[in-house]
Amino acid sequence: MLEDVDGNVFLDMTAGIAVTSTGHCHPEVVQAIQAQSGNLLHMSGTDFYYEPMVELAEKLANRAPFPGNARIFFSNSGAESNEGAIKLAKYHTKRNLIVAFLGAFHGRTYGAMSLTGSKTVQRANFGSLLPGVTHIPYGTHASLDYLEKQLFTTMLPANEVAAIIVEPIQGEGGYIVPEDGFLQRIRQICDRYGILMIVDEVQSGMGRTGKLFAIAHWDVTPDIITTAKGIASGLPLGAIIARSHIMTWQPGSHATTFGGNPVACAAGIATLRLLENGLMENATRMGEILQAGLFKLCDRFPRLSSPRGKGLMVAVDLFDETGNFDKELRDRILQAAFHRGLLLLGCGKSAIRFCPPLVIDSEQIQIALNIITEILLEVI
Ligand SMILES: Cc1ncc(COP(=O)(O)O)c(C=O)c1O
Repeated sequence: MLEDVDGNVFLDMTAGIAVTSTGHCHPEVVQAIQAQSGNLLHMSGTDFYYEPMVELAEKLANRAPFPGNARIFFSNSGAESNEGAIKLAKYHTKRNLIVAFLGAFHGRTYGAMSLTGSKTVQRANFGSLLPGVTHIPYGTHASLDYLEKQLFTTMLPANEVAAIIVEPIQGEGGYIVPEDGFLQRIRQICDRYGILMIVDEVQSGMGRTGKLFAIAHWDVTPDIITTAKGIASGLPLGAIIARSHIMTWQPGSHATTFGGNPVACAAGIATLRLLENGLMENATRMGEILQAGLFKLCDRFPRLSSPRGKGLMVAVDLFDETGNFDKELRDRILQAAFHRGLLLLGCGKSAIRFCPPLVIDSEQIQIALNIITEILLEVI
C-alpha cells in the first residue's frame, strides 16, 4: 500500500515497475539497509571487496541455474546489466552479431536500446545504434524457423553471432509467454552454432514468477542471466550472472564505480532471504488466485482477453467491438483505477499488467478485482 501527499491510499499492483518485490519498506529490508548504512556506504567493489558484495555474489552464484560454477558482476540497473552482457558475449566469443526479438525491452542506454524492439518512441531521434543487431518475432517456432532457414542461410552468418538475448516472458512487450519449446529451441540453436544464450530476467527474475529465475519453468540452462529490478527491493542494483568459463574478461575490461554498492547488496541479501522464506511460494499461490479471478472476468466481459503469465507476472488485453487491440480503452481503465485507489500499469499493445509486490495477499487481490469489475461495468 502507498499513501500520497494528500493522504490517499493506493493498492499497488505495479511494485514501481516490478521492483519492490518484498513490498514497500519491508522491515527486514529497512533494517538491513540501516545496519549497513552505519557501517560502510561505499568502497568501489572494482578495487576492494567488502562483505555484503561477496555474500550476495556467492548466494546468487549458488542459485544460478548452471551446471558448474557461476560468476557475478554487479551493476546499477537492468540496462547496465544488459550492456555488460553484450560486452561479455562479444568478448568471450570474439564474434560481433547479436539476435534479439521484436517487442523486447532491454533498457535505454545505447547498447541496451539497440537490443530493444518494443516501441519506436524509445528509439526515435537518437541516431545510429549498435550495429550488428537483428530482431526477429518473439515467441514462435515460425520465427526460429525464419532465423535458421532464412537468415542463417542468406544474411546472418551463424558462426559470427555472439549471442541470442531473450526474455523468458516478454515484459514491456506485453507479458507474452512464448510457445512451448521456444526457449528450449533457442538453447539448441545456440549449442549448434556456438552462440551464447543470454536470458534477460530483469523483470521476470527474482521470484516474480514463483521461481527465482523464470527460465527455470522451462528447464533451460542459459549462459548468461541479467537481472536488476526486484533484486534489492527498490535500491538500485543489477547483476550479470554467467557461467564461470564465460566470464573470462580480464581486470579492467569492464568495471563500475557504484555497482554492487554495500547498502544495495545488504538490501539484496535481505530480499533473497525473504523471497526464499515464503514470498516466491506466495507469488505462485497469489498468481493462481489472480488468474482465476481474471478468467471469471473475461467470461463476463468479452472485451477482456483471458489472462496469461506466471506467478505475479500476469496480463490481460483489452479489445474493441471488432476484436482489435484497444489501447484507448486500456488507458481509460488504468486512469479510472488510479482514481479508485488502484495502481496499474499497461504493457504491450493494449494489456493491463499485474506485477504487484510479492507480499500481496488474497484479500488485496480481491479488492483489485472488485475495482476492475466496477470500472468495466462503467466503461464497457
Ligand atoms: C526485461 C527488461 N530488461 C531491462 C530493463 C531495463 O531496466 P532498467 O530500467 O533498470 O535499466 C527492463 C525495464 O523495464 C526490463 O523490463
